[in-house]
Amino acid sequence: MIEVQHLTKRYGRVTAVDDVTFRVERGEILGFLGPNGAGKTTTMRVLTGYMPATSGRAIVAGFDVFDQPLEAKRRTGYLPETPPLYPEMTVREYLGFVARIKGVSSGERSARVNAAMEKTRVTDMAARHCGQLSKGYRQRVGLAQALIHNPDVLILDEPTAGLDPKQIIETRELIKQLAGDHTVILSTHILPEVSQTCQRVVIINRGRVVAVDSPANLTRRLGGAQTMYVQVDGASDGAQAALERLTGITRVAEVDRQDGIVGYEVDSEPGHDLRRDIARAVVTSGWGLLELRPVRMSLEDIFLQLTTEEQPGEATIQ
Ligand SMILES: Nc1ncnc2c1ncn2[C@@H]1O[C@H](COP(=O)(O)OP(=O)(O)O)[C@@H](O)[C@H]1O
Ligand SMILES: [Mg+2]
Repeated sequence: MIEVQHLTKRYGRVTAVDDVTFRVERGEILGFLGPNGAGKTTTMRVLTGYMPATSGRAIVAGFDVFDQPLEAKRRTGYLPETPPLYPEMTVREYLGFVARIKGVSSGERSARVNAAMEKTRVTDMAARHCGQLSKGYRQRVGLAQALIHNPDVLILDEPTAGLDPKQIIETRELIKQLAGDHTVILSTHILPEVSQTCQRVVIINRGRVVAVDSPANLTRRLGGAQTMYVQVDGASDGAQAALERLTGITRVAEVDRQDGIVGYEVDSEPGHDLRRDIARAVVTSGWGLLELRPVRMSLEDIFLQLTTEEQPGEATIQ
């Protein structure tokens, strides 16, 4: 439904988007996650035809956004970072106006406006001026205008930014309901957004894609069971050396110590389950094995690792 190939965008000497490639399947919600300045808005502006790319290709709903911009735009709804509302128009007038410029026929317009207001739950604000809406309602009216022409693709730039926790939950639910009928890309710089809303995540940092996967897979593939917590009794200082001698172990670090009980974090090479070896090494040395468990990395840890490491090549896990 959306295909981005080797997209690059430079502003003068700043490379905002650097050889970005990813695809989004029909009906999917893709999270576009990255810290501020990563290139999310720039990518979205290119995808929605607001800005030309420096190089690369983007296909939206079967149309090349550079060669067939009108066809692509007709099938795309865009919620920019700041919803483009006209303060002096009422919500109903504004949505009717957007429907007209998006080419919705006059006979269909009022039904579309009502449907979009219902979907985004702004019907009770229909007669309110856009300039008098709360931030939460402004965002919802912004979503309504993105939906008004019933596009195949929705591109939502930080749809929950600036909302309070209750509005955030409502907006997430709304976006989930919209997927299926629509293919959605949403950008965010905060993690809970993607783990709770998206099936797949593209992590972008300094204009480059550093990971593409499901939130669950990202957690598993990058962190997961490769780090173990091992708690040993009666080993004094011998346990660390004993663990370090095991094949496949890359690092042993003492993390806590009390009354002769010492806790270690043990990293192993990917794909090795060393629990049996660790247990045997501890027990055959005559020490007590009090605890042995995997340390799960949260998506947050992974995000930080991916976006703070200086070796993008190493962090790429596609
Ligand atoms: N109009 C512009 N002119 C020059 N540089 C820009 C412009 N817009 C964005 N940038 C730069 O491009 C990079 C990516 O910005 P942006 O796409 O807004 O990131 P994000 O949306 O992920 O925060 C940043 O370094 C930003 O300073
Ligand atoms: Mg942005």
